[in-house]
Amino acid sequence: MYDWIRPLLFKLDAETAHGLTLYGLDVAYRSELSRFVATPAQGVPTEAFGLQFPNPVGLAAGLDKNAAHLDALGALGFGFIEVGTVTPRPQMGNERPRLFRLPRHEAIINRMGFNNEGVDALVRNVAGSSYRGVLGINIGKNKDTPNDKAVDDYLFCLERVYAHASYITVNISSPNTKGLRDLQEEATLRRFIETLRQAQERLGSQQGARKPMLLKIAPDLTEAELDSIAEVLLAVGVDGVVCTNTTIDHGAVADDPLGGEIGGLSGRPLLAKSTHVVQGMRRRLGDRIAIVGVGGILEGGDAADKLDAGASLVQLYSGLIYRGPALIAECVNEIRRRQEQHDAG
Ligand code: FNR
Repeated sequence: MYDWIRPLLFKLDAETAHGLTLYGLDVAYRSELSRFVATPAQGVPTEAFGLQFPNPVGLAAGLDKNAAHLDALGALGFGFIEVGTVTPRPQMGNERPRLFRLPRHEAIINRMGFNNEGVDALVRNVAGSSYRGVLGINIGKNKDTPNDKAVDDYLFCLERVYAHASYITVNISSPNTKGLRDLQEEATLRRFIETLRQAQERLGSQQGARKPMLLKIAPDLTEAELDSIAEVLLAVGVDGVVCTNTTIDHGAVADDPLGGEIGGLSGRPLLAKSTHVVQGMRRRLGDRIAIVGVGGILEGGDAADKLDAGASLVQLYSGLIYRGPALIAECVNEIRRRQEQHDAG
């Protein structure tokens, strides 16, 4: 069905199409038409950071920043959904246009800038939804919070979302909030994550349920930077790492009229780079920390490759824009096929 909707959506400005698609999914959900949108896939039960997933294919952060469409998205067949990034206070994000499609490259450039309605609105939406699957909540900082106070924003969000999340992702890798990625520097990261880890354990004992905490990293880190991040992750003991966010390297789309737009690049041109980070992190982390592979999954084989590279779970965003929700079942089916092949061989 997406094959005939896509040309219409692609005639619209990218952000208008995004809003319209989510609105359409909500209407389809309420009128029980979702079953025509979702392609059913057999489950691939998966375990990671102590949680059980019906399949390892999830929705990446940024598509539903306010958790306002959870029910509709939950009906599409994802094994889990990550909402956010959410910040303590609402913020508008950057000026429009800030979202660009590069169809020839099956890519997206975005400089949204953490536009969201604030953590309290997100929590209200989660509490009001009937989605009961695995829910990740991705947290960040407000644009006007300086980096030396950033940890307070993350603590604020962590406390608010803790009871409502299955897991929490700490996003320090968006290229669209000035200075954010500097938090990935070793000494800063160690202090920052230690503080959040203490809060995670304190909230876990207060609420009687410990929630896993993941860190989302950029694809543009050097091998030395990956070494020091891995060292911190192992020393401080986070539950997982999400590899990766969008890239600031636009080399692969330099020939495109929109290739020079400022922002993070995602989709097909990010695939190899982010899978390389998955592989490098698996080598550094051994089996102790789970990896969520995200970046450039446009077909089932790309998702299976991320698992082969060492991820336990994968997430999709740009692929959904180009392929529609049928991509979810395609990924699940290809992952199952590869697993059966490995088991047989
Ligand atoms: C994103 N992404 C993102 N990530 C995040 O942690 N918080 C966010 O708020 C957003 N926002 C966002 C908006 C838009 C428009 C896009 C395209 C992406 C990054 C996303 O979760 C993912 O890491 C990358 O897009 C790479 O995956 P794909 O898109 O290549 O499958």
